[in-house]
Amino acid sequence: MDAIEVLKTRRSVRAYRSDPVPKETIEDIIDCGRLAATAVNIQPWEFVVVTSPELLRSIAHATDYGKFIAEAPVCVVILCQETKYYLEDGSAATENILLAARAHGLGSCWVAGDKKAYASQICHLVGAPRGYKLISLIPIGYPAESPEPPKRPLSDVLHWEKY
Ligand SMILES: Cc1cc2nc3c(=O)[nH]c(=O)nc-3n(C[C@H](O)[C@H](O)[C@H](O)COP(=O)(O)O)c2cc1C
Repeated sequence: MDAIEVLKTRRSVRAYRSDPVPKETIEDIIDCGRLAATAVNIQPWEFVVVTSPELLRSIAHATDYGKFIAEAPVCVVILCQETKYYLEDGSAATENILLAARAHGLGSCWVAGDKKAYASQICHLVGAPRGYKLISLIPIGYPAESPEPPKRPLSDVLHWEKY
């Protein structure tokens, strides 16, 4: 799949097959996350890869709209040191990871972290040091669904020169 096709066909997948995801594939996906754009190249991120079924269940249970994390073989927890642009940096890394997962034929979903009441609980569950913010949770697995959420057409959102 070329890059443009990956970008245009990525969708949030919330149901996964139980097949394990190879470690090298996860490492390659995280590698794509660490290479994201980041203000003044500060790279404030850390990536915690969770595969323990018990920890996956605890994380899922803590969230409001991420209960399906319990059924994923892997969940990437993105943490950022609280710098000026931590949320933008962490979001760029999150999107890179979603796209890299798609390129590897995997499904994933951005589950909210920042500003959520459960953020500190999840930081504690994964042993994050003080001063780190939870950006996102990204369950990853071979897709067991192919959602097609409606998308606004290009003609609605594209404005040449002025709005
Ligand atoms: C900041 C952010 C937070 C999100 N949080 C959740 C979430 O907690 N649970 C969930 O199921 N999806 C979550 N999503 C995924 C969106 O629901 C999804 O991207 C949107 O419905 C569009 O669908 P698509 O990703 O398939 O294009 C989140 C997406 C973003 C960008």
